[in-house]
Amino acid sequence: MIVVFGSINVDLIVPVPRLPRPGETVLGGDYALLPGGKGANQALAARRAGAEVVLAGAVGADSFADIALDLLRRDGVDTRLVRVVERPTGCAAIMVSSDGENTIAVAPGANASARSDQVPDELLSAGTTLVGQMEVPPSETALLIRRLRGCGGYSLLNLAPALPIDVALLGEIDLVVANVGEAAATGSDPERLARRLRHGLVVTRGAAGALAILREGMRIEVPALAIEPVDTTGAGDTFVGVLAAALDLGSTLETALHRASAGAGLACLARGAQSAMPDGAAIAAAVDRLSP
Ligand code: RIB
Repeated sequence: MIVVFGSINVDLIVPVPRLPRPGETVLGGDYALLPGGKGANQALAARRAGAEVVLAGAVGADSFADIALDLLRRDGVDTRLVRVVERPTGCAAIMVSSDGENTIAVAPGANASARSDQVPDELLSAGTTLVGQMEVPPSETALLIRRLRGCGGYSLLNLAPALPIDVALLGEIDLVVANVGEAAATGSDPERLARRLRHGLVVTRGAAGALAILREGMRIEVPALAIEPVDTTGAGDTFVGVLAAALDLGSTLETALHRASAGAGLACLARGAQSAMPDGAAIAAAVDRLSP
């Protein structure tokens, strides 16, 4: 079973012909309010990929909470560990250009109130895969990772957005997933970072695919799906969610990486972080189309 401890947002998405420069106003198309947040996105991606998923996080007592949680619930993500707090539901302002690139600013709101003790001990065991990111308080994520380590479960931390990480925590984490910029922001070269982790490091490289560097130095390179992106928002989250699901369901890391790469590509084919997240059958079909 997968426990995702992470952020839950509403994404306010504005399509623009190109991303504005600082100080510039660009006229765009109609906006959309869609569910998002790295934690919620990863939970949905893992669920659609076939895993049992429990999401722990926080939302406000407002209408945005319904927008943020409705699709998760309809798809069978267990949201009973999501608490309602006296702050607004998290919101991300996202501009998406006509070539699918984006810029994102997040108002964390309720996400800042997510607490590790929302996850009861009975959900943490050797059979648990824990998924975390950096949009809820990192100190709370660290507490949960350490609790899970004591039970022998598997922890996966997505270093997004790039924030300083407690070096002492690295040795407690099984797998870190980061894009090129997030990996560089750690100040450590990838091989060195991988050696500090229990299993290894996965660096996602957009259209160039992904590279895993295992603790012992072995490397696994995986290509990306050849696509014309509509919106890359949530592609990294889909990668993480599908990867976690495959590992949780017993795949090897190499198989899980291929499924994650295929899933991330498919997720770019519609507007919004969650709209195009694929199910297991779509992922399996796309794995065969990964470019060599
Ligand atoms: O990774 C994409 C996500 O980042 C968006 O859904 C937005 O909410 C921000 O958390």
